Amino acid sequence: MPLMRDPKTFRSHAWFHGDQYEHLARRAWLRSEGFGQDTFDGRPVIGICNSWSELTNCNAHLRQVAEAVKRGVWAAGGIPLEFPTISLGEMFMKPTTMMFRNLMSMDVEESIAANPIDGVVLLCGCDKTTPAQLMGAASADIPAIMVTGGPMLSGRWNGEPLGSGTDGRRLFEQVRAGRIGEEQWAEVEGCISRSAGHCTVMGTASTMASMAEALGMMLPGGAAIPAVDARRYQLAEASGRRIVAMVSEDLKPSAIMTREALENAVRVDMAIGGSTNAVVHLLALAGRLGIDLKLNDFDRLSRETPFIANVKPSGEFLMEDFYYAGGLPCVMKEILPLLHAAARTVSGKTLADDLAGVEIRNRDIVKRADRPLNAEGGTAVLYGNLAPDGAVIKQTAASPHLLRHRGKAVVFERYEELRARIDDPDLAIDENSVLVLKNAGPRGGPGFPEWGHLPIPAKLLKAGVQDIVRVSDARMSGTSFGTDVLHISPESAAGGPLAAVRTGDEIELNVPERRIDLRIEENAIKRRIEAAPPQPPRYRRGYGKLFLEQVTQAHEGCDFRFLRKDA
Ligand code: FES
Repeated sequence: MPLMRDPKTFRSHAWFHGDQYEHLARRAWLRSEGFGQDTFDGRPVIGICNSWSELTNCNAHLRQVAEAVKRGVWAAGGIPLEFPTISLGEMFMKPTTMMFRNLMSMDVEESIAANPIDGVVLLCGCDKTTPAQLMGAASADIPAIMVTGGPMLSGRWNGEPLGSGTDGRRLFEQVRAGRIGEEQWAEVEGCISRSAGHCTVMGTASTMASMAEALGMMLPGGAAIPAVDARRYQLAEASGRRIVAMVSEDLKPSAIMTREALENAVRVDMAIGGSTNAVVHLLALAGRLGIDLKLNDFDRLSRETPFIANVKPSGEFLMEDFYYAGGLPCVMKEILPLLHAAARTVSGKTLADDLAGVEIRNRDIVKRADRPLNAEGGTAVLYGNLAPDGAVIKQTAASPHLLRHRGKAVVFERYEELRARIDDPDLAIDENSVLVLKNAGPRGGPGFPEWGHLPIPAKLLKAGVQDIVRVSDARMSGTSFGTDVLHISPESAAGGPLAAVRTGDEIELNVPERRIDLRIEENAIKRRIEAAPPQPPRYRRGYGKLFLEQVTQAHEGCDFRFLRKDA
């Protein structure tokens, strides 16, 4: 397409055009990669920001995806230059990938800002790589488009479909209850993760890919295409073409990720029963954009948005099925009256234009908005004397009979203690107890690990108990399910009331009324917190020290204070 902008206004122009030595040197050094002299004739330079890594198995195919992006960029008249960033592999990194989301976002932002790039294609997939790239691109604010790696193919075992994460956890409880043996468990290992791509339920990776599409940062329909489907490579090529046009239009993330787009993303998160992690990531993203999105906005929007995507862990199907049913555009079409239809997307059009021709192909998987799976959205926000700044629960993945519950706390001060004692036959616990874990938040974990789906004690599993109320300041994997109260804020390590809970105290959960309360005297809570011994910092140097000093609490998105737009 013809360029609408004078190439002299491109960022890269300042690097390559001029008569000083450095201009010659930059051209010469780039020509050393085999580019011809006409590389510098006014074409936009498109960075391909690749989180490929063999240590991030979900993103291990992104080099092939990058090749498809390059085809599109060349065809549209741009120059593609691929560059790596750090990558965050959910399965491997310790103490938790969440500790490094902000670091990756800084790498993405600075790599874009420091280089002769006019536009950027963001390649990501595994849980934290997607928000990290969105946050970095928001802060850099040059034209950007996202291509996620897509979900892996559905697993299958004993004739039943297996969704990575969700079904693995479900079957592991059967192992702990003694109902599945070693040989069967080895079979599960061999068939639960069938191809390249990210987890194939509506866990954090699928949710964040959906958020990128709902925000308008991905071409329509891109989130759910399976990783190994040819149509993902076609999407990548189309995105390569489109970013060149976006540079010409000077269409930046700040013009796409507006307050309206963020509200659209929150509503879509509720409609798909998305991961509770999306709450933290969208709050952080809003902070980067200078948009005043608050935790209670999620609850307001959740109460008005029906849950309609029948995908695990809140529903029955897998991401592959969801794609064949029409994917995210079908969900967005169904709730379009609730969305800001005039929001602009990377397509250059409005959301309403993008959704104009969408047809819903399978009503088992995408329900009607007036006949939803749940009248409210997936996530509820709770407040109370145990969570003055808020907590979250995935109500659609919880047990209905536990949504109003009062029980005696069984408290673990640290995760290591929980691991050591949870299966102790002498642990005094029954199905009415409330499991409590402290010191698992952003500073306490440290890093805000996904420990919030506390294991049910083996003796209860053997007795047939399938769920109990669990309360912590941790996060939970988006693939998990159960009555888990998460993200208690302020966290116990920051002096939050969770620090005051003792075994035997009564805790009352009331999700319909959005309450989580410790039923002891308010003065007793205060006295116990004041008497608690200070915890020594877990890191005294390096990135860990920076993290502990700068990370904000869960209800603020856990970004570093100095990375917010208003810092
Ligand atoms: Fe990477 Fe689930 S482990 S998406």
